Amino acid sequence: MDKPSRRNAHVVVIGNEKGGCGKTTAAMHLAVGLMRLGFSVGCIDLDHRQRSLARYLSNRAAWSQRSGVVLPTPRMVVLSPSTADGRGEARAEEAAAFDAALGEMCETVDFVVVDCPGSDVVLARHAHVHADTLITPINDSLLDLDLLGRLDPVSWELKSAGIYAGLVWELRQERRRAHRSGIDWVVMRSRLSAIDDRNKRKMAEVLPQMQKVLGFRLATGFGERVIYRYLFLWGLTVLDLDQAGVAVEATKSHDAARAEVRALLESLWLPRVAERLARL
Ligand SMILES: Nc1ncnc2c1ncn2[C@@H]1O[C@H](COP(=O)(O)OP(=O)(O)O)[C@@H](O)[C@H]1O
Ligand SMILES: [Mg+2]
Repeated sequence: MDKPSRRNAHVVVIGNEKGGCGKTTAAMHLAVGLMRLGFSVGCIDLDHRQRSLARYLSNRAAWSQRSGVVLPTPRMVVLSPSTADGRGEARAEEAAAFDAALGEMCETVDFVVVDCPGSDVVLARHAHVHADTLITPINDSLLDLDLLGRLDPVSWELKSAGIYAGLVWELRQERRRAHRSGIDWVVMRSRLSAIDDRNKRKMAEVLPQMQKVLGFRLATGFGERVIYRYLFLWGLTVLDLDQAGVAVEATKSHDAARAEVRALLESLWLPRVAERLARL
């Protein structure tokens, strides 16, 4: 893999080999949150089949134009799959396109947010090697947890790393060799139920025990809230509700969602973010 390019921007990759765990929702809220803190942000959507982040952001641009409300909107690049015949050639072409897009963005913005697809594709691996910060949203399910670590059903002890944690370990070595720097790997629980059930309690118990062994740290997550799902067509986030131009009745759940996004931003320890958080 190529050596990550020299850069100024901080690169945040949102990844997990699992669809539906909240990657795009987290990417969108993070990108808009950083812009609302006064940073310039660029986004790269690697999910060239679903293009969810790109669709989300184009809805935002369209809504901004239609409503006349000026919404801070990150720059967006969607990488298309290579049309080269050979697999090796196609991979090299895609990696080169990613490096070019990232290199160009890194010179012009403060943060780059890369949204990965929910499967192990070569380009997503390549992107992980460029991550200063890697965010992995996981749903509260033992099946999803298995991607991070395999647990003993009686003792609940960690038996071995799961496939995604194994991949991150491998790519961290690669980044260290190529770039002489590490990846700050942050796991956030996502779509947390409001009910305090046995599953939720077990997740809260085992995740902190896993973090040291697997090399991640836990950040504040997002609860399961209708508002996170509702705003897609307008390209809005919970941080935009004050000026959205859309009639959404204010609720306590919206305030709680805003607080979750703020807490996530705080727990990521991104450069120059802490001193601006009061703006959100
Ligand atoms: N915190 C949340 N509360 C409620 N729904 C959510 C939340 N996060 C994501 N969703 C919904 O769950 C689905 C999957 O989320 P998405 O962000 O697209 O995941 P991924 O990018 O990992 O596939 C979408 O329908 C999204 O609107
Ligand atoms: Mg997605």
